[in-house]
Amino acid sequence: MSSTFFIPAVNIMGTGCLDEAMDAIRKYGFRKALIVTDTGLAKAGVATMIAEKLALQDIDSVIFDGAKPNPSIANVELGLGLLKETRCDFVVSLGGGSPHDCAKGIALCATNGGTIRDYEGVDRSAKPQLPLIAINTTAGTASEMTRFCIITDESRHVKMAIVDRNVTPLLSVNDPALMVAMPKGLTAATGMDALTHAIEAYVSTAANPITDACALKAITLISNNLPQAVRDGSDMIARENMAYAQFLAGMAFNNASLGYVHAMAHQLGGFYDLPHGVCNAVLLPHVQSFNALVCADRLTDVAHAMGADIRGFSPEEGAQAAIAAIRDLAREVEIPAGLRELGARLNDIPVLASNALKDACGLTNPRPADQRQIEEIFRSAF
Ligand SMILES: [Fe+2]
Repeated sequence: MSSTFFIPAVNIMGTGCLDEAMDAIRKYGFRKALIVTDTGLAKAGVATMIAEKLALQDIDSVIFDGAKPNPSIANVELGLGLLKETRCDFVVSLGGGSPHDCAKGIALCATNGGTIRDYEGVDRSAKPQLPLIAINTTAGTASEMTRFCIITDESRHVKMAIVDRNVTPLLSVNDPALMVAMPKGLTAATGMDALTHAIEAYVSTAANPITDACALKAITLISNNLPQAVRDGSDMIARENMAYAQFLAGMAFNNASLGYVHAMAHQLGGFYDLPHGVCNAVLLPHVQSFNALVCADRLTDVAHAMGADIRGFSPEEGAQAAIAAIRDLAREVEIPAGLRELGARLNDIPVLASNALKDACGLTNPRPADQRQIEEIFRSAF
C-alpha cells in the first residue's frame, strides 16, 4: 500500500522561537497579513504583539478576531470579506484549532472561490490556498500543521471535515512561551485531543511505520507530561514536551487519519457547541472498547506507551490496560465522566450517529460500524 506524507515545508519549534519565526516570515517577501485570531487573544494583546513583530519586519497587517470556538461558515465569510477589502496577500493564524481552521477556510476560498461548504470532503479544491503561517498557542489540535480544516455548518448543525492537501500551512510555529497562559481546563482538553489523535492514528487502517513512530512517541510524551502541564502551567519543560507531543500526534493523524472518536466528537461539537478535546476525551475509551475486537495488539502497544506493565498480558488484557490507562489519565486531568454531564441528550443519538457515519474521519477506523453500533457507543458514553 502506498502512502503520501503531508507536513508544512517548514516547522519552527521550541521555547522562544517566535523571533526566529518572524525572521523566516520576512524572507517569504509577503506584504500584508490578515491575522486571524479569537477575541481572547486579541483582548490579551497577543494579536497586537504579533502585528508589532510583523511591522518590525516591514510587514503590514490587519487583525480579524472573529474566529469563534467551533468556527462557522459565517466566521470564514466575514474574515474572507476583510481579507479582500484590505488586500492582504497572506494569512497568519494565531491561536489554537479554531483560529487555524477559520484561517484555512479563508485562505482556501481566497484562491479557489466559492464558499467553504464547496470543499467538504477530501481534496475538493483545485488550487493552493493563499499562503498561511500558523502560530500555535495551544498543545492539542495540531491544526497548525495539518491538512484538516473543521468548520461548523450552523444551518445543518454539523461540523464539516475538509481534508485537503491545499489547506496545509506553509510554516508552522510552536513556541511554548505562547502556551503558558492556557488555563487548566484548556490544557487538559487540548492535551486529550492530542492523545486521541495519536491513538486513532495508531489503530487506523492507514497507519504506516512513520505514523506509528510519531504516534507512540506522542502517547508517551502526553502520558508523562500532561498531568504536570495541567497541575503547573508555568512548567516550561512540561509545556515544551506537550508542544512536541501534539506536533508528533499531528504528524501521525495528518497522514494515517483518524477514526470514530473524531467522527462522533465532531457531531457533539456541532450540535451542542462543546469543546472538541473534551468530547474526544469522553468518547475515546468507549470507541477503543468497540475497536478492541480487531486491534487488541495495537491497543496493547498503546498501553505500553502509556507506561502500563503489560508483561504476560494477552492482547485482550493489553487492550483493557490501554483503556484503563486512558480513563486514568482523563480522570487525573479532570475531564467530565460522561456525555450527560456535558448536556448531551439521549433523544439526539440517532441523528448524531447518522451524521457521524458521514464524517470523513471515520473512514479509517479499524472496525467498521453501522448506525446501531454507533448509537450504542454514544449510549455507553452517557
Ligand atoms: Fe482533534
